Amino acid sequence: MNIYRVKNYEDMSRRAAAIVSAQIVLKPDCVLGLATGSSPEGLYQNLVKQYKDGDLDFSRVTSVNLDEYKGLAPDHEQSYRRFMNDHLFDHVNIDKDRTFVPDGLNEDSEKVCSAYDELIARTGGIDLQLLGLGNNGHIGFNEPADAFTCGTHCVELTQSTIDANKRFFASEDLVPRYAYTMGIGNIMAAKKILLIVSGKAKAEALKAALTGPVTPKVPASVLQLHPDVAVVADEDALELIDKH
Ligand code: F6R
Repeated sequence: MNIYRVKNYEDMSRRAAAIVSAQIVLKPDCVLGLATGSSPEGLYQNLVKQYKDGDLDFSRVTSVNLDEYKGLAPDHEQSYRRFMNDHLFDHVNIDKDRTFVPDGLNEDSEKVCSAYDELIARTGGIDLQLLGLGNNGHIGFNEPADAFTCGTHCVELTQSTIDANKRFFASEDLVPRYAYTMGIGNIMAAKKILLIVSGKAKAEALKAALTGPVTPKVPASVLQLHPDVAVVADEDALELIDKH
């Protein structure tokens, strides 16, 4: 695991964008596993800038997103499909037909999840999986649990995640209670993983993930077992972890 300690959110975004763009340059037809939320917004801005400057070509890239709220339509303001369009896909030359997000509108969880696992397999597998970290240690929507999950599944969101995400909704009642998410098995099957973390609110979770025991109670701790992980985290997020 390589840990890159950076000063702040801006530096994290730039450094992480360099890793994603290197992946695209080295393998133009790569499969990117993508994430939503506050953590990657700056990274996506950097990628859009690199594209506009003529330094990056998304035309052969395929993307698969980690997760989607169950019950939200793709054009809903808070759907993860909408987030990806707004922050990245609408601003670069990616072929939208090769961008995938779980189908939040389909109520048939089994169908959605098995179709998503088959889709990931058909892409040939994820080259680089981008992850943010939940305050409770979640990755994707894999919440703290008694066992690690394998494939894509439907989860009931914990109160801690509802609390963290309600800032995006007009009221807490409007936060969906369920989501579809890739499982820990899907994430661990990616060839490379890039975890980006910023802010003091994540410090406890990051410490537990990187230095604590590997346990499904801290889903991100499983990353200690992956052979190729880059963590780009700022001073605030790393404040509980020694520099040496
Ligand atoms: C988003 C996702 C989540 C977030 C995590 C951190 O697709 O899967 O695991 O990465 O909740 O969210 P932010 O970045 O908003 O703090």
